[in-house]
Amino acid sequence: MALTAETPRIVADPMVPRVGRIRKRVRELSDVWTLTVEMDEPFAFAPGQFNMLTAFGVGEAAISISGDPARPGEGLIHTIRDVGPVSHALSHLEPGDYIGVRGPYGAGWPVEVAEHCDVVILAGGLGLAPLRPLIYEVLSGRKKYGKVALLFGARTPTDLLFRPELEQWRRRLDVDIHVTVDTSTEDWYGNVGVVTTLVPRAAFDPQHTIAYVCGPEIMMRFGAAALRDKGVPDEAMYLSMERNMKCGIGLCGHCQIGTVFVCRDGPVFRNDKLRPLMSVKEL
Ligand SMILES: Cc1cc2nc3c(=O)[nH]c(=O)nc-3n(C[C@H](O)[C@H](O)[C@H](O)COP(=O)(O)OP(=O)(O)OC[C@H]3O[C@@H](n4cnc5c(N)ncnc54)[C@H](O)[C@@H]3O)c2cc1C
Ligand code: FES
Repeated sequence: MALTAETPRIVADPMVPRVGRIRKRVRELSDVWTLTVEMDEPFAFAPGQFNMLTAFGVGEAAISISGDPARPGEGLIHTIRDVGPVSHALSHLEPGDYIGVRGPYGAGWPVEVAEHCDVVILAGGLGLAPLRPLIYEVLSGRKKYGKVALLFGARTPTDLLFRPELEQWRRRLDVDIHVTVDTSTEDWYGNVGVVTTLVPRAAFDPQHTIAYVCGPEIMMRFGAAALRDKGVPDEAMYLSMERNMKCGIGLCGHCQIGTVFVCRDGPVFRNDKLRPLMSVKEL
């Protein structure tokens, strides 16, 4: 039968999750786990995008994708901190368990704007997870960029996310990596101080740099200020915002700041566009 305008069509409901299965669960920190999810179909995403993940019977939460966009065969990778009911249920799913996935959603890190520029990646705590797909992309296309600096800070040495991978990246001679902790322990011989203290140590040309910043909101605010002090314009900084989300697709207004929906227009924003929004009282 030929299709006509009158032919009934089945339209996929964007609020209905696809069902995936946990392939692997790895403990990263005392309260952080990385899940690898097996999907029936290939799942393409851009660095910085997120999914709405459902723990069936509990609820849904926005979680960034932390895997390598160039390696879809690895499965869909998310790194989750256990902070409340949904993240607790998600992070305690075991291999073989089912999980709901809606996405990928949002505007991610614009990687292409950094070509021929120096790149500064500034991460605080769990903020390294949404930045990891960007790091993979920059490192795999390393020749396209000038100097690349990764500046990462955590509260204590035991809070350093992806530590084995950090050590691997550190062995490369083409990336300038600085790591710091707010509070040191006996066996820590590295930098001590907040992550923004690393900005003056990194080698980059501020007028020809693109900076990507992710972490707790206060860290991003001070991080952007430190980059600005060094001469990086707001137009060259990209920050990822976390806001309470429900639909993830610009319908419910939960994530709204002023006229902007963080889920649809972000979560990554250029700082000259973000700064005026941050002065709007949150709804
Ligand atoms: C675009 C986007 C991407 C995100 N990516 C990730 C991710 O990759 N990994 C991840 O673990 N979370 C991520 N989050 C945060 C996650 O969606 C929330 O933490 C979510 O509220 C968890 O739901 P819950 O029911 O477990 O906790 P809730 O009941 O919503 O929160 C429990 C308590 O924890 C506090 N809380 C909520 N979020 C955080 C937080 N991030 N850090 C510290 N305290 C918090 C709340 O204020 C509340 O007091 C992301 C959020 C957004 C908007
Ligand atoms: S989460 Fe519903 S509009 Fe953004």
